[in-house]
Amino acid sequence: MNKPTAIVTGASRGIGRGIATELAKTHRVLATYRGRLDAAESLRAETGCEIFQCDISSSADRKALMSFAREKFGQLDLLVNNAGMAPRERLDILEATEESFDEVISTNLKGPYFLTQQAARWMVEQGSGRIVFVTSMSSYTASTNRGEYCISKAGLSMAVSLWAVRLAALGIKVFEIRPGIIRTDMIAKVEKAYEEKIAGGLLPQRRMGEPNDIALAVRALADGLLDYSTGQVLNLDGGFHLRAL
Ligand SMILES: NC(=O)c1ccc[n+]([C@@H]2O[C@H](COP(=O)([O-])OP(=O)(O)OC[C@H]3O[C@@H](n4cnc5c(N)ncnc54)[C@H](OP(=O)(O)O)[C@@H]3O)[C@@H](O)[C@H]2O)c1
Repeated sequence: MNKPTAIVTGASRGIGRGIATELAKTHRVLATYRGRLDAAESLRAETGCEIFQCDISSSADRKALMSFAREKFGQLDLLVNNAGMAPRERLDILEATEESFDEVISTNLKGPYFLTQQAARWMVEQGSGRIVFVTSMSSYTASTNRGEYCISKAGLSMAVSLWAVRLAALGIKVFEIRPGIIRTDMIAKVEKAYEEKIAGGLLPQRRMGEPNDIALAVRALADGLLDYSTGQVLNLDGGFHLRAL
């Protein structure tokens, strides 16, 4: 029962599922999902993770999640802010709607920012902890057919800096994982087009990323291998961020 504990948001599918599966080898993991109970239940069956329904954009759901975690675990060693969404429809910024902007910002930025506030208060009581944010190469890459997503991730990158600076002297480390193109449901509609771009040289490493590529980076962070690097950004993108001539 002395295993370290972790919360992974959005862990029913994709990257979060990969992270929860990896962490479950060493941690007691609380895996959250929004609507896909079937997927969350299969994760629980495969890994022994606890599961909890939480719409990260809802203040009441975030509070309920933290109460459940406190009751279940009593301590929190790691929070992985992974849950996120793409706009329901990719629309040019000349056409995109305020409704989509509000939904994406609430889910990708406001949700993890305020969940982190609650987790940080708990970790401050403990005097230890690690927090990981899953942002995106969209933090710095302008895609004009999903501006609200790019803005949400750019804001989340700043949240990493803010929390890293605020919590450093209190013994809590904060990290950013910035994925490139990762094979999950989120990119299913554009997977073929991305594969063609990758084959054409979009990425120095000519393959799409897999959820396990991200999970292994979280493993290194969870094991404390980068503990003198608070605020560090890990680009998990096959070299997309490099400039070359
Ligand atoms: N795939 C990529 O290429 C890529 C690249 C860069 C960054 N990312 C980021 O990586 C993270 C995971 O993405 P993914 O590709 O694994 O996506 P995904 O396959 O679509 O999975 C999304 C996960 O987040 C959950 N979720 C969605 N909206 C939520 C909400 N409002 N509250 C709580 N949970 C919610 C989903 O729960 P349900 O299953 O219950 O719906 C699911 O578990 C996201 O933050 C995404 O922006 C992805």
